[in-house]
Amino acid sequence: MPTLSHLDALEILDSRGRPTLEVLCQFDSGARASAQVPSGASTGTAEARELRDADPHRHAGLGCLRAVAHVTGPIRDALLHQSFESQSQLDTTLLRLDGTPSLERLGANAVLGVSLAFARTHAAERGLPLHRHFSGLLPHTASPPRLPRPTINLFSGGKHAGGQIAIQDVLLVPLAAHTMADALAHACAVFQAAARLVSERYRSRTLVADEGGLAPDFPSTETMLDDAVEAIRRTGLVPGRDIALAVDVASSHFYHDHRYHLDGAALDSSAMIDRLAAWVERFPIVSLEDGLAEDDWDHWPLLLQRLGENCLILGDDLLCTHPERIRRAVASHAANALLLKVNQIGTLSEAARALELARAASWHVTISARSGETEDHWLSDLATGWNGDHIKIGSITRSERLSKYNRLLAIEHETAWPLAPAP
Ligand code: PGA
Ligand code: ZN
Repeated sequence: MPTLSHLDALEILDSRGRPTLEVLCQFDSGARASAQVPSGASTGTAEARELRDADPHRHAGLGCLRAVAHVTGPIRDALLHQSFESQSQLDTTLLRLDGTPSLERLGANAVLGVSLAFARTHAAERGLPLHRHFSGLLPHTASPPRLPRPTINLFSGGKHAGGQIAIQDVLLVPLAAHTMADALAHACAVFQAAARLVSERYRSRTLVADEGGLAPDFPSTETMLDDAVEAIRRTGLVPGRDIALAVDVASSHFYHDHRYHLDGAALDSSAMIDRLAAWVERFPIVSLEDGLAEDDWDHWPLLLQRLGENCLILGDDLLCTHPERIRRAVASHAANALLLKVNQIGTLSEAARALELARAASWHVTISARSGETEDHWLSDLATGWNGDHIKIGSITRSERLSKYNRLLAIEHETAWPLAPAP
């Protein structure tokens, strides 16, 4: 049984230059490892709470020194020299120690750092690749092992790009690729074609947004989608056959006073559903994330009825990886796919519960990074070990994203596992 002999933490910087945490863990066997914690910007209101210092004189209040002090103080005091049979025993101890539903006392960032660092140290002690250890955390062994199919950010808007266009991401979904290497080769070709198109059409240098997507001043969402299709065509790949599109509408962030404020219009929920249906009709879209706002529960079932047959109706802010919200969405037929982000809920064990609920409902699962990321690549092992249908990391232009794509390439090289089937 692993006994914790050392636990430490430090404040580090994420891909936006904002503070986050790295947690280091050691067992008495000598096994040791660390893990870094990501952070979102377009967060759902039901997410577990990151603890920030709120000191306006340091990192504009975003410092994580209090969260660090919680790891090296009360969490270390409670865990040191204790033996844990399993990840769930460790996570239950953390949840009890915090005692609040959203982890606001110790901080979800502190708690997740410890949960992840423990898992990685445990994998090291067992001499297992992290993805094998992660797959052992699930109650049932997943069907034959495979790699998640990547969905790759091409164009960005919303909170990740300064709001020049309301929707957040247009992503590429490689359909024809049979390997991770081919999927990334296709995405890289489209990205280069899109960068050229953007500099011709918008006379804009190819500056990139928080997740590495191109972010010119698109005049409308339709133009953004048209440009994505055009970029695919320019590579010789066939839109809808070789590469499809996914859209993270992230509509909670432009929903105010019961209206969706999109492309100069103020749409009510049924007009918004009509708009989404028109996009799916006109463009090769296979997945719509947060097509409606996180609390527009009454209309999600209508969206699913209308488009769910041929399109993934993916809940991010709607579900917040929260078992209760997933149960409600399953019962009310509100979605058919879960976007899983471990830091939305705070521990690996609770995220595993969220995954199990989605799987029990035969939902599709996308395992996702955050817009504020680090060079750590545990996400790639998680998405592989948990048999994600998709992984969502961001674009292919920033190293905090590439560390994860490169880790997937290394797993593919070692295992020769196939990609999950295209949707
Ligand atoms: P976030 O964005 O990490 O800023 O929440 C990612 C997403 O909305 O999927
Ligand atoms: Zn999202």
